[in-house]
Amino acid sequence: MTEPDFLHTTRTAYDSMAALYAELFADDLADFPLDRAMLGAFADFVRAEGGGPVADLGCGPGHVTALLHSLGLDAFGVDLSAEMIAIARTARPDLRFEVGSMTAPDIEDGTLGGVLARYSIIHTPPERLPQVCAEFHRVLAPGGHLLISFQAHEDPSRPVESFDHKVTLAHRWSPDRVADLLTGAGLTEKARLLRAPTESERPFPHAHLLFAKSR
Ligand SMILES: C[S@@+](CC[C@H](N)C(=O)[O-])C[C@H]1O[C@@H](n2cnc3c(N)ncnc32)[C@H](O)[C@@H]1O
Repeated sequence: MTEPDFLHTTRTAYDSMAALYAELFADDLADFPLDRAMLGAFADFVRAEGGGPVADLGCGPGHVTALLHSLGLDAFGVDLSAEMIAIARTARPDLRFEVGSMTAPDIEDGTLGGVLARYSIIHTPPERLPQVCAEFHRVLAPGGHLLISFQAHEDPSRPVESFDHKVTLAHRWSPDRVADLLTGAGLTEKARLLRAPTESERPFPHAHLLFAKSR
């Protein structure tokens, strides 16, 4: 089966930037206490529901997968980019990293305690996001949790708009619109955080949405 153009474009772009991306971003999120708070709450909820595997979909160099592991989760990473996965495997040979796409993850139905999608939906064409949300719902076990993060905008008259991302074309979403898509896929909202950009992230705000699949 031929893959859609956007997957090829995204993979090629991240393959060529993987080493630089890892150098710039593969830290422990020390400068992002609000992001760490949401990841910590996500980990607490997943553990409270009995744990279960957690997929970091679009894991990049795997630094956040490693953070989830340090929070007591059985975390593994999936990314389109084979170069990103090679870097992640070298950095953390004790963790599992696989090449794959969140549009059709090679994961059994209802088997995950959690899904993290951290800045990885942004390269999905808007009309494909409902399919990705349906996949999140499909792979989560009842009681499983989803944490999704992305560059946002706050104009309710425009649910999504493209922006000039440094790696490849990207889309920033209204948090309400993404919440609607996740609700439409059968998930329930538990919390959301909209935070101001740091100096290095300007100009867009950043959204973190925590959802769960009912038992
Ligand atoms: C902005 S980086 C974020 C990486 C990491 N999650 C982080 O927080 O630093 C986006 C990552 O998502 C991956 N990605 C984009 N679309 C994807 C898809 N459909 N399936 C899997 N990975 C994807 C890219 O290859 C890239 O590594």
